[in-house]
Amino acid sequence: MGQQVRAAVFPVAGRGTRFLPATKASPKEMLPIVDKPLIQYAVEEAIAAGATKLVFVTGSSKRAIEDHFDVDSELEQALTDSGKDELLRSIQDIVPAGVSCIYIRQGQPLGLGHAVLCARPAVGDEPFFVHLADDLIAGTPGCLSQMAAEYKDHNGSVVAVETVPPENTSSYGIVAIDAADRGRITQIVEKPNPEDAPSNSAVVGRYLLAAEIFDKLETIGQGAGGEIQLTDGIAALLEESPVYAYAFSGTRYDCGSKLGYLQATVAYGLSHPDTGERFREHLKKTLSDD
Ligand code: G1P
Repeated sequence: MGQQVRAAVFPVAGRGTRFLPATKASPKEMLPIVDKPLIQYAVEEAIAAGATKLVFVTGSSKRAIEDHFDVDSELEQALTDSGKDELLRSIQDIVPAGVSCIYIRQGQPLGLGHAVLCARPAVGDEPFFVHLADDLIAGTPGCLSQMAAEYKDHNGSVVAVETVPPENTSSYGIVAIDAADRGRITQIVEKPNPEDAPSNSAVVGRYLLAAEIFDKLETIGQGAGGEIQLTDGIAALLEESPVYAYAFSGTRYDCGSKLGYLQATVAYGLSHPDTGERFREHLKKTLSDD
């Protein structure tokens, strides 16, 4: 049986250039979907999956993330004084009691694998989640909860995957799996061209990794794009210990792209209790006017 996963790593040092100028002075992870920033959806998913130690690997211009998960006594007082109880609760409950936030700076942008390695002192010698907030996944239970359940069954690392159009393989880590061995990954390649891709099963931004990955990340060196790639660390890990591909249930929105971000906004806007009904009417009218 796999052990309880307590640590979740959020690599949030990237500059989000695809969203400039919106992300010039504010982190891309703070972009809201309706009324919550992407990073809050990420944290809620990790906490729901049992994480109690949230490790943010940050960079410059990311102060807003620390502020978001900190107590704001002045705002709380103002909301208390004006009797806005529901809003008060919405800012008080973001990080529940018993959950701690740890911030580590990634001094240089050396890649996703390097960002994960930066979290090593905070994670220690335990299995941990990695969550990429750009990939917003609507699912019940959340994707990390599904993966934690999978891990309890398999006792190996777990990587979330989804089928993508063959022409899109160069945007993802791509895996080959052994279906006869419960989806064990036999090969993983970072962003291959379609003609070199071992399949069109793409890694999305959710990982449950054994701590042995850290030793691999220490030694793999630069990979695709001159960066230390998490994919290459996983490729080294699967030589020694099992890594399984997990086809999650839910819908993924690539909020690192403008189109994916808009799609997420529409989906979450339609299901939000405050906006759903009127937004649906508005969309219908807008589309019929076209
Ligand atoms: C990263 C990983 C890639 C993975 C993707 C999922 O790429 O390197 O293997 O498929 O996240 O979103 P990025 O999107 O940061 O370029």
